Amino acid sequence: MKENLRKNNKYPKAYADGFANFYGRDFIVTPDVLIPRPETEQLVDMVLSLAGKSKLPGVRSPKRVLPKNPAILDLGTGSGCIAITLSLELPKALVMGIDPSIEALEVAAENNEELGADAQFAPGFVCEFSNFSDELDVIVANLPYVDPKWDWIDKKALSFEPKMALYAENGGLSIYEGLFAAMITAEFTGYLIIEADPCQHNKLIEMAEEAGFEHLRTEGFGLMFHRKTALTSHKYDETDALRMGGYL
Ligand SMILES: C[S@@+](CC[C@H](N)C(=O)[O-])C[C@H]1O[C@@H](n2cnc3c(N)ncnc32)[C@H](O)[C@@H]1O
Repeated sequence: MKENLRKNNKYPKAYADGFANFYGRDFIVTPDVLIPRPETEQLVDMVLSLAGKSKLPGVRSPKRVLPKNPAILDLGTGSGCIAITLSLELPKALVMGIDPSIEALEVAAENNEELGADAQFAPGFVCEFSNFSDELDVIVANLPYVDPKWDWIDKKALSFEPKMALYAENGGLSIYEGLFAAMITAEFTGYLIIEADPCQHNKLIEMAEEAGFEHLRTEGFGLMFHRKTALTSHKYDETDALRMGGYL
């Protein structure tokens, strides 16, 4: 039955098989989650390079810039492939994945257990990291970025995957716009690693720079940024109170 569907309708092999390989491990996939793509492995590798580890061929031996036990947030975790891979590759890291899709989180939890990983998962939208963003060292995000107007993509082939995992308005950037809007008030400082189509990179670099990030690297579909200080790092303290009261 599934074999027929696949032949006739471009039904993805990964859904028929029930799993997809990502960074050398098999992840359970159902039609509730995006099938992990090879280009997304680059995001994992970019995070690992910050931790002094990198597995992709041709990458020069990196220097560790993260603490030994970094706190990493994976926004739009889907099957959990990024969060779980990072948790397995960096066993001392605290890794959390969030996604608004409860069905996707169930798949992520299953993958976490099957692969013996220690990632945490919680429901949430892109903007819901700001409460604890000052505790994070890295935010990694493969958010939906396909513009429904792109006529050069095979929409039939994508039609079996969840629309909410693929499409975004405003040239495919509306959800990343939400992320950078949240960054204006978030206390987050550290590394931000995101995926988008290369035709969207210039616009994303502009948006990131407006939110106080420096663009460090571009590798394939991945962009790496760093922010040294939050835009609202100005905290209310005793000195502020005295100044506001006219005592200083
Ligand atoms: C492109 S998929 C990436 C899935 C997985 N991280 C991967 O790389 O294969 C995007 C994920 O973002 C989630 N998502 C959609 N809208 C979102 C939003 N507003 N905030 C956070 N996540 C969102 C989707 O449910 C989906 O799981």
